[in-house]
Amino acid sequence: MKTIVEKVDINNPDNKIVEKAASILQKGGLVAFPTETVYGLGANGLDAKACRKIYLAKGRPSDNPLILHIAGLEQLKQIVSKIPEAAQKAMEAFWPGPLTIIFPKADCVPKEITGGFETVAVRFPSNQIARKIIEASGLPIAAPSANSSGKPSPTRASHVEYDLAGIIDCIIDGGPTEVGLESTILDTTGKKPVLLRPGAITKEMLEEVLGEIEIDPAILKKPDKNSAPKAPGMKYIHYSPKAEITLVKGDLKKVIEKINLLTEKEQKQGKKVGIIATEQTKDYYTAGVVLNIGDRTRPETVGANLFKILRKTDFLGLEVVYSEVFEEIGEGAAIMNRLTKAAGYHVIEV
Ligand code: TXA
Ligand code: MG
Repeated sequence: MKTIVEKVDINNPDNKIVEKAASILQKGGLVAFPTETVYGLGANGLDAKACRKIYLAKGRPSDNPLILHIAGLEQLKQIVSKIPEAAQKAMEAFWPGPLTIIFPKADCVPKEITGGFETVAVRFPSNQIARKIIEASGLPIAAPSANSSGKPSPTRASHVEYDLAGIIDCIIDGGPTEVGLESTILDTTGKKPVLLRPGAITKEMLEEVLGEIEIDPAILKKPDKNSAPKAPGMKYIHYSPKAEITLVKGDLKKVIEKINLLTEKEQKQGKKVGIIATEQTKDYYTAGVVLNIGDRTRPETVGANLFKILRKTDFLGLEVVYSEVFEEIGEGAAIMNRLTKAAGYHVIEV
């Protein structure tokens, strides 16, 4: 299959291209498009056959449910059977935006979307291109991140092309995504709201609106047989580049010393070594390929660059990567969640 790639200006999306993308979706095809978080791989969310194509294209396990994307609140009533109070408050505060909410599902939502659950994940994105395409299609659009399963989520159209060219119908290139981390997931179907995946809408922001919320324990530690994450996608190996990644935690000065030592040691053994550093620390490394992930005082810059840097470690053919860590408050919690998984939970303390 030849994959059509179309460039679109986020500030002034070309209607003809939007219509073309919507028409492919209406006919049961797959279109990758930008959202404010990461690129999504869209299909008609009410068409089980179209959704099965998503699983095939990504190589995604069939028990991992998809998020339905909407472009207005009228669409929500069609796909959920109830709007819990916590959901209503969260929607009012954070939609449109990088927050996914779990609702009890309506009958029309196929089991292919929900992985057999009685609940459905819904997101109203703020990205103008995403909104226009969803609106023009008139459909709820199922869209997981547009990467091959297991690879870091795509934050550029080029990432999508690398993983999925020749496999999907169309890629809409709207430039780099703003947030760079997948949406926060909040489950509102139980007694208390539960955070299932941290993101740019932080726990602190949610608690300001909802009061105290619970955190799915699987976010904080390596899931095992006794702690299956409530968001099935959180149990899979994710964000994993080819290099072996190790996080080095502790006083920043000691971290730099340790990484310099380890890098020299690995290089002596002929390994190609990379270092994930920051604006503040990048000049203190004495060997290895230094990758600047962003500014420590502005975690949003680190979030925006994280997946690009992980993919870059592959393009550079790095075999061993050492990374600094970040404070787990605000967006830092989401950054550390993704980084820790990418490192296969391999952390050294100094
Ligand atoms: O930012 C995002 O959320 C991006 C963009 C494209 O919107 N999408 C995304 O989708 O990250 P995906 O498929 O990569 O991640 C969806 C996550 C998975 O961990 C999945 O298990 C969880 O949402 N999920 C979906 N439906 C669920 C449900 N009914 N209950 C619990 N978790 C659910
Ligand atoms: Mg994903």
